[in-house]
Amino acid sequence: MSEIIIAPSILSGDFANLERDIKNLEKSGADWIHIDVMDGHFVPNLTIGAPVVKALRNVTSIPLDVHLMIDNPEKYIQDFIKAGSDIITFHYEASKNNTLNLIKEIQSHGIKAGLSIKPKTEVKEIIPFLKMPDLVLIMTVEPGFGGQKFMDECALKIKELTDYKNLIIEVDGGINDKTAKICTNYGANALVAGNYVFSSSSMKEAIASLR
Ligand code: DX5
Ligand code: ZN
Repeated sequence: MSEIIIAPSILSGDFANLERDIKNLEKSGADWIHIDVMDGHFVPNLTIGAPVVKALRNVTSIPLDVHLMIDNPEKYIQDFIKAGSDIITFHYEASKNNTLNLIKEIQSHGIKAGLSIKPKTEVKEIIPFLKMPDLVLIMTVEPGFGGQKFMDECALKIKELTDYKNLIIEVDGGINDKTAKICTNYGANALVAGNYVFSSSSMKEAIASLR
């Protein structure tokens, strides 16, 4: 995979104008739209749920990259499948013994399954599962909020995943034109960016600068 997938996060968008923001991101060259789902338990913040994903599905055909930062993901995965997600990523810290079942459940609906790890979780913990998911999402900030500082030491985990040739290696948190290069040099092929894209004067230039 040589082309880098750019997935802007609507967490930094205007929640009263998400349709407008997504149309602008599409026009500006976004490949996927990253949707951050937070439950106030797994992370200390609350955002949106499956009804919003469904509403966005009705107004766009761009792939919806849903990042579940929630406890008990098994309870909600069906809702996010039905809502029209194209990629569903859940956290290993929340799924543990159920990890393989959840990956299979997602993939059985013909969509991509992703496994994410927080900064303190080592890649070696998820090695037993790596033949299954379509994607691994490496967090380079503590999940919960946009606009935080990139943790360089977490980006090193990317290097431990590049032997898995079919895996999409996505990185999330503190991505800007400089940290994007660190990640892609290590072998990442998908980047999430919220604050950087939404705070720039040109979304198009911001997205282009990440590739
Ligand atoms: C953090 C979220 C990220 C976040 C990225 O918990 O998972 O997707 O929105 O935002 P930036 O790019 O602003 O760090
Ligand atoms: Zn995210």
